[in-house]
Amino acid sequence: TEFITVNELASLMNVSPTEVISACFSLGVMVTMNQRLEADTLTLVADEFGYKIEFSDADLEENLDEETPDAEEDLIARAPIVTVMGHVDHGKTSLLDYIRKANVIAGESGGITQHIGAYNVKLEGGQRITFLDTPGHEAFTAMRARGAQVTDIVIIVIAADDDVMPQTKEAIAHAQAAGVPMIIALNKVDKPNANPDNIRQQLSGMNILVEEWGGNIQSQEISAKFGNNVDALLEKVLLQAEMLELKANPDRAANGVVIEAALDKGRGYVSTILVQNGTLKVGDYILAGKNHGKVKAMLDERGKPMQAAGPSIPVTILGLDGAPTAGDKFRIYADEKEAKTIATKREQLQREQTLRTKKHLTLDEIGRRI
Ligand code: GTP
Ligand code: MG
Repeated sequence: TEFITVNELASLMNVSPTEVISACFSLGVMVTMNQRLEADTLTLVADEFGYKIEFSDADLEENLDEETPDAEEDLIARAPIVTVMGHVDHGKTSLLDYIRKANVIAGESGGITQHIGAYNVKLEGGQRITFLDTPGHEAFTAMRARGAQVTDIVIIVIAADDDVMPQTKEAIAHAQAAGVPMIIALNKVDKPNANPDNIRQQLSGMNILVEEWGGNIQSQEISAKFGNNVDALLEKVLLQAEMLELKANPDRAANGVVIEAALDKGRGYVSTILVQNGTLKVGDYILAGKNHGKVKAMLDERGKPMQAAGPSIPVTILGLDGAPTAGDKFRIYADEKEAKTIATKREQLQREQTLRTKKHLTLDEIGRRI
């Protein structure tokens, strides 16, 4: 159950959102401004600021829509979801461009990634991997946090001609907070001034010991630009994925998470979502966060129409009645009426929760500890 957002909590307590974020951080929870907090986190954080939060039964009863668990025999292997993270310009998009034989950076404004790109790639050996490309610019912390939360494995790209930089550290913190295994890609080793040992040294200073240094974190020297040793890096990803024994049940209604959503002038609301379990089909009635609708069309990342998308597959869908928030969960309902009812209920519940929490906080303010 998730309640009010970091932002809302901050304004109720009359502190800045940054203070709430760092309070969460010190509790080991990575959050972003618009993220909803769970009861435990909410209670602990409020306590840090001297507030006590009371939840009524209605608050805690939420789960309008529990997913039924899958039977073991229905589960089959699914592709790993791998998020690429690291400091700005260290070569994340170049790496994915090389793997995909695409040229995304050429089309980016100033060569800076500003959104999460989601790609399902078929390797030469036939294996599939779903990659999420994240921006390295410091402004995009929320996207990196989200990327780390939906992924199975994180590749931390570090330019070997540079240092372990602030967003390198941040990316490592996100991976650790999400409890996701990391693989370190030491990039740009083609450069004459590349010094991968310097990076390994700096990492060891942060208690990140790569295999070459006797630790258990996999790493690989690569050149994303020329493709050197990218195959070796992918081997390590597949090895790591194998150990995770990732499985899903393609024979059920889909559920998953929203990667991003926006209003497109010609096409209406366009949402990129990642199917985590089940299979999403054109014509399905979908509920994503507070938005719902019938999936009118599904497109792959190259804009090619698709009829169905199974586990670990990212798709762009048309047909929602609004833009859900990135990070929102989605699921499928038997008919439009059901999806709509739940959407309305969710909205109501959220409004009530906000009001209730607000009231308790205001009352408690009287007894605020200093
Ligand atoms: P953001 O998304 O903005 O965080 O950057 P990014 O990490 O995606 O970096 P990007 O792939 O856009 O690469 C930044 C620059 O580094 C580009 O000019 C690339 O050509 C260059 N570059 C990336 N990888 C390598 C490499 O292995 N060797 C060399 N020499 N240059 C590289
Ligand atoms: Mg990029």
